[in-house]
Amino acid sequence: MSLVSGPGRGGITEGQLPTELRLYVDKHVTYIQSLDKRKDELEYWLTEHLRLSGLYWGLTALHLLGRPDALPRSEVLDFVVSCLQDDGGFAAAPQHDSHMLYTVSGVQILAMLDALDEFDERVSGGREKVGRFIANLQNPNTGTFAGDIWGETDTRFLYGALNALSLLGMTNLVDTDKAVEYIQACVNSDGGYGTSPGAESHAGQVFTCVGALAIAGRLDLVDRDKLGGWLSERQLPNGGLNGRPEKLEDVCYSWWVVSSLAMIDRLHWISGSKLQEFILKCQDPDHGGISDRPGDMVDVFHTVFGIAGLSLTKYPGLVEVDPI
Ligand code: FPP
Ligand code: ZN
Repeated sequence: MSLVSGPGRGGITEGQLPTELRLYVDKHVTYIQSLDKRKDELEYWLTEHLRLSGLYWGLTALHLLGRPDALPRSEVLDFVVSCLQDDGGFAAAPQHDSHMLYTVSGVQILAMLDALDEFDERVSGGREKVGRFIANLQNPNTGTFAGDIWGETDTRFLYGALNALSLLGMTNLVDTDKAVEYIQACVNSDGGYGTSPGAESHAGQVFTCVGALAIAGRLDLVDRDKLGGWLSERQLPNGGLNGRPEKLEDVCYSWWVVSSLAMIDRLHWISGSKLQEFILKCQDPDHGGISDRPGDMVDVFHTVFGIAGLSLTKYPGLVEVDPI
């Protein structure tokens, strides 16, 4: 996920935000800032294995809300660098193991803060090392990617690899054609994509496959009407979206489903205003943050994907997000 326009560009001001969100922006900002100050709480330590991605989600939410400076840039960069491991991958936290997902978060934060050159100044040959770590996780026979040296493969890792490599300007390090072939093997007869060939269609995997095809410049391979039909059926009468048939609605699908629809030019096949109403009902009015469903506990993952869903559906006053 990256930003189409920088904060404040295009005349974005908080005054443009409708009341349903404006009243809560300060609370969302405070909630995100508080996430790193809860070191006396068990939950803080139980989520250590997610720390770098949590930082990426929080920072993205702040950028979309037009508050990019609400977390101190130099401390953010220090933390990102402290997560870099000797093998060139990023871990969730210092002294943890490298993994594709945290490497993608690390690169996305560096790109979002316009700090890729600075990274190379701090870590000699840093970008190159990170690019090689990612490229080494591609299986040359199948084109797909593993998450780490233990070898589990998933279209999440394939998308992550292409996303991070494109931000680094290094997609030439991998076999993109083979990766595209693998994605094509994951298409199902309902138009959706699963985690591997033959696996059930799931909106999260649809996002990864369509996103990867978009980065590879191969969206021509998508049956847009069929996939758009399947994706639009994800909207339930309460406006929320689910990830596959017969499942409950969940705010995070406001990103996985809606960004996929945007990439195939079928965003108008769902009701953006009904989705916005649903997302806004999931805000915690007292302490900020957004939950998966109204009344549930908030977390930073659903906070960023809720705000990104509002941005994708052109909610006024937010920074525009790039669906790819
Ligand atoms: C729950 O599945 C899983 C999610 C809500 C996340 C889906 C998103 C992805 C797979 C894409 C992730 C992409 C990257 C790049 C990391 P479930 O089967 O438990 O939930 P359900 O009940 O909603 O189907
Ligand atoms: Zn969710």
